[in-house]
Amino acid sequence: MSRPYPPVDYTGYLKVDQLTQLQKPKGEEYGTPVHDEMLFIVIHQVYELWFKQILFELDSVLEIFSRDRIAEQDMLHCSSRLERIIEIQKILVDQVKVLETMTPMDFLEFRDFLVPASGFQSAQFRQIENKLGLINRLTYNNKDYIESLCPMQQPTVRATESEPSLFTLLEKWLERTPLISDGSFDFWKSYKEAVEARQKDSREAIKTAGLDKATESSHLKNLEHMERSFESIFDKNEYEKLQKEGHWRLSRKALSAALIIHLYREEPLLQAPFRLLTQLQNVDENFTQWRHRHAQMAHRMLGAKMGTGGSSGHKYLRAAGERHKVFSDFFNLATFFIPKSHLPEIPQSLKAKIQFRY
Ligand code: HEM
Repeated sequence: MSRPYPPVDYTGYLKVDQLTQLQKPKGEEYGTPVHDEMLFIVIHQVYELWFKQILFELDSVLEIFSRDRIAEQDMLHCSSRLERIIEIQKILVDQVKVLETMTPMDFLEFRDFLVPASGFQSAQFRQIENKLGLINRLTYNNKDYIESLCPMQQPTVRATESEPSLFTLLEKWLERTPLISDGSFDFWKSYKEAVEARQKDSREAIKTAGLDKATESSHLKNLEHMERSFESIFDKNEYEKLQKEGHWRLSRKALSAALIIHLYREEPLLQAPFRLLTQLQNVDENFTQWRHRHAQMAHRMLGAKMGTGGSSGHKYLRAAGERHKVFSDFFNLATFFIPKSHLPEIPQSLKAKIQFRY
């Protein structure tokens, strides 16, 4: 039987020979080999390979989300690819441990060889951030992060700043959710009534709980605070003011859709969107975890020394971990969830549209 394809072997297919020739410790070049430099190079290369795979998956999700309509089958593909990114991220966080088998003293043996190179110059990491939709990046030394990258890579990374990011495409997709513009259901009006009923019940519960005066007053204050928070999303102008001030990033229309998806996530048509929003939160959370883990490791290796790239070291990294989040709105959204028992009923006509019948 003739084979349609020529035979291949493991080494040739995977280019193992080339791959294993790519580790060139500076210590060997300078005639002062340092044992731990090999690990340092291998682990960075492994990270870059995983970044490559994340970009590959992310590009596919972006392509699907850039379409005017997303078919249910494609939602499944998006979810599977995001799930893969999430699993890779877990490895990214976990393998910091391998690097920590190198002690700070071992690191000092070759650290001077590296200046001014830094992970800050990882073009693939910056592309992932931009493609996800990171904005308002922290800077240090008043320099645009692009300037730190190798000149050849700068145009590719710059281009990802103006391409539609996952955040932007997701916002558009949420705005298209049919539920919020369905004539039979005025979501905000019904939700406001439901929230008011819930707040009334909570006030009653606090007043009849037999709490001491100080505790009662603290609970009531918290309730008033919640009422003001709710007002800020019920009122379109107030929401837009907060959005301009940077408290919210999503448009109010997109935020409404995300809220509806969470509240009514059990409805058959909302299950896939709910899974997707949850996965995006996981992706964001996992990168934050990686940033914190990496900052902790840098602290352990450097103490208060500055980074090879010129930042304040672990302090910069911690601050970036706090600030460099893309989907914070989805986290803040939980403030506005109320229990299922208090949710407004979806009208039957609309319910029929969002259920599958066999
Ligand atoms: C001994 C190990 C390491 C130390 C001490 C360290 C330290 C640092 C420091 C201090 C910075 C801030 C920029 C600077 O001043 O250089 C930085 C940035 C960065 N490092 Fe590392 N790093 C280490 C290993 C790694 C590894 C294995 C990776 C994997 C790719 C990595 C990826 C990054 C990235 C992506 C940034 C930019 C982070 C941002 O700007 O938010 N680092 N690193």
